[in-house]
Amino acid sequence: MKLLQYEKSLQPLLSALPVCHGWGRGATLYHYNGYWLQLVFIAGQRLLPEQYAPRPTDILLASSPKCGTTWLKALAFAALCRLLDRNPHDLVPFIELQYLASPGKLESLQDPRLLATHLPPSLLPAAVTSTCRIIYVYRDPKDVFVSHWQFGKSTCGPLWDHAFEYWRESRRSPERVLFLRYEDMAEDAGGSLRKIAEFMGRGFSPEEESAGAVEALAELCSFENLSKQEVNKTGNFRVSDQVEFRGLKNSSFFRKGKVGDSANYLSPEMARRLDEFMQEKLHAADLAGFPAGSGQSN
Ligand code: A3P
Repeated sequence: MKLLQYEKSLQPLLSALPVCHGWGRGATLYHYNGYWLQLVFIAGQRLLPEQYAPRPTDILLASSPKCGTTWLKALAFAALCRLLDRNPHDLVPFIELQYLASPGKLESLQDPRLLATHLPPSLLPAAVTSTCRIIYVYRDPKDVFVSHWQFGKSTCGPLWDHAFEYWRESRRSPERVLFLRYEDMAEDAGGSLRKIAEFMGRGFSPEEESAGAVEALAELCSFENLSKQEVNKTGNFRVSDQVEFRGLKNSSFFRKGKVGDSANYLSPEMARRLDEFMQEKLHAADLAGFPAGSGQSN
């Protein structure tokens, strides 16, 4: 009830914002400070300063939806704890969605806290980007486009602005922001796991290396393994403990898990136009060194 009242109190703000309807199921998206967000993200973003006190030990996994969030959560949790025993979303909560559940939950978590966000740096309280370490995952926009389309909603875009903001942060402070690509994770999951573990100060020991721990954990986090686990095939995505998120199924986070699957859905002309569009955005943003290969047709 309190929650509904809070969301209702945002109506005057929302009614002044440009609106569009997302793909598929058509979630309503509001153009809020440069990004297209659902009400829950706007509501959560506004409450973040009072509901989330960042700690220097926090590790924040950041992404646009459909870029490999679930996979990154699995890899980072496995790198930190050397195991993976639940649905990755149950293990790593989104900071901006906590207001839907139990506001005290984040405070009660033990250090180092592994947390997630779909919000760009410009929508996070300044204390978050100056205090936490951040791992960001980016993915070829064509594959994100197809993944998103099948999933049914688009939110937190534009994808490029989101990625560019995190890219700039990672160039400014590489010790604080690690920028990863889904395609690199797919090519070398073990190498990505090592990078993530080292970034978090939990590098693998020679004993763990020779025991094959890296390969075993990467395999544990693989699409093939995760998508067949009962916890990921059944049940609904939860914001926190028992609080479900409006009927979103856990299984919806596992579709194909392939690089370049967009080629099966987009004509070469559509792929070319998307690549060109991305190149224009890159050019306009004047971002030297943005990961090579992004925005290229496969
Ligand atoms: P596809 O729709 O291309 O299959 P997010 O977690 O950010 O919502 O991203 C979902 C995308 O990541 C989906 O892509 C999903 O199949 C893929 N994915 C989920 N778990 C994965 C894993 N363990 N390894 C590789 N890809 C994974």
